[in-house]
Amino acid sequence: MTDREAAWARLREAAGEDRGRRIAALFEAEPDRLARLTVEAAVGVFLDLSKQPWSRAGVDAALALASAADIEGRRARLFAGEMVNLTERRPALHMALRAPDGADYKALGLAVSGEVEATRRQMRDFAEGIRAGRIVGATGRPFRSLVHIGIGGSDLGPKLVWEALKPLDAPIELRFAANVDGAEIAAALAGLDPAQTLVIVVSKTFTTEETLANGRAARAWLAAALGEDGANGHLAAVSANIEGANAFGVAADRVFAFWDWVGGRYSLWSAVGLSCAVGLGWDAFAALLGGAAAMDEHFRTAPLERNAPALLALAHVFNRNGLGRPIRAVVPYARRLALLPAFLQQLEMESNGKRVTEDGALLTRGSAAAVFGDAGTTGQHAFFQLLHQGTDVIPVDIIAAAHGDEGPPDHQARLLANAVAQSEALMVGRANAAEPHRNFPGDRPTSFLLVDRVTPASLGAVIALYEHKVFVEGVLWGIDSFDQWGVELGKTLARDVLAELQGGEVKPHDPSTAALIARLRG
Ligand code: F6P
Repeated sequence: MTDREAAWARLREAAGEDRGRRIAALFEAEPDRLARLTVEAAVGVFLDLSKQPWSRAGVDAALALASAADIEGRRARLFAGEMVNLTERRPALHMALRAPDGADYKALGLAVSGEVEATRRQMRDFAEGIRAGRIVGATGRPFRSLVHIGIGGSDLGPKLVWEALKPLDAPIELRFAANVDGAEIAAALAGLDPAQTLVIVVSKTFTTEETLANGRAARAWLAAALGEDGANGHLAAVSANIEGANAFGVAADRVFAFWDWVGGRYSLWSAVGLSCAVGLGWDAFAALLGGAAAMDEHFRTAPLERNAPALLALAHVFNRNGLGRPIRAVVPYARRLALLPAFLQQLEMESNGKRVTEDGALLTRGSAAAVFGDAGTTGQHAFFQLLHQGTDVIPVDIIAAAHGDEGPPDHQARLLANAVAQSEALMVGRANAAEPHRNFPGDRPTSFLLVDRVTPASLGAVIALYEHKVFVEGVLWGIDSFDQWGVELGKTLARDVLAELQGGEVKPHDPSTAALIARLRG
């Protein structure tokens, strides 16, 4: 047995023993539990993993697995810009995008920080120019709305950031169109004045069908009001495929580059975040980058037993592989973070939803958990019944902010009371032998992530924490977290089916698919 397999066996054994213990009882048995399992990471991000179902022996087994998987060595290779994405033969160097000026990141040995800084300056000039009214539309009027067109990693991060940080009286309104469903672009454009609307088409590959279709629709909408030449002045593009963006008709000085070493779901920090820089201002975007950079530094330097991303990954793996729990809930007790579960669905499930190892062997254990969630307290009135009394144990990540600055002053305390009470209730439960339907078994794990306020910096730090958590899990499972081959087949078949729905020759299909196509062709 390899050292690594021995470490997995030890983890399973420790988890098996911990299954027989109640989490709440571990506090008595381990007086230093709270101190060991709470970490203040960076930008005041505080993580409490003491309500996870691991005893000291369980934590030690998880840390031993981290050593056996050489997390520290792999982390060094990640930061050094080595080829960690093996199937696409690329580094994954999103940290370079948020590093302060003067950093010296290299991708496969080639310096990248200079180009990153140049693109940041281009973004800053554009964003500030629009906000100050120096860059105006075809009729000379300032931009008042921005439609961000992109999907997946080219949508979820910017949308999360905008919803988290947008001022209630935003001078520039941002709208997003991702889905190819015509209802989405129609809603994004509805009521806007083309003369005051900027459209940014964001696609790493610039080949994504949904984005190109929505981009064409938006350009036609602009051109109908402003003419073709006028429309060009209202378009910008963000892509790693500069030729593709140019071919789409975006003026060369309005194309913002990024690089193949930036994965789509890790691209928020690149020019993919340009819409947020325009909508929130450069200082806020720079603070978002700064918060993420501070978390990078924590992840890179903190010892694993005090390292928030590593410990969060180990807690999740303990549940997933030690205790066989394939689902996790994410509940932000901050309405402004309501899109965090959707963001994490892509980050975690597209990164680690894989069944083969880096060398192509079949995985012998479960990988990414399915993630779902919604903002608290809303979610409490929907799916919390199952979390408390369902037949499966579903670990929960609770995310909260100590302070909120909006709405009636007493609401923040009410919100926080719910966040804290739920984590207590899930762990402690309440016995009621006489009325089983009123019995709360408890012993249901939570992680509690607390920031001081939802700010650009704390949000950047939280997102980076999850990015690195996903990296650590990928290394533990031995998979490539940075490719996404599983999305290809559906895309290819959709192209064929589209041709058939549009009257083309019908190809052979299974009986169900053939009948659906026949029905839709009418
Ligand atoms: O769904 C697959 C995917 O490639 C994601 O990884 C990516 O974020 C999304 O599509 C959008 O891709 P692009 O930015 O190239 O349009």
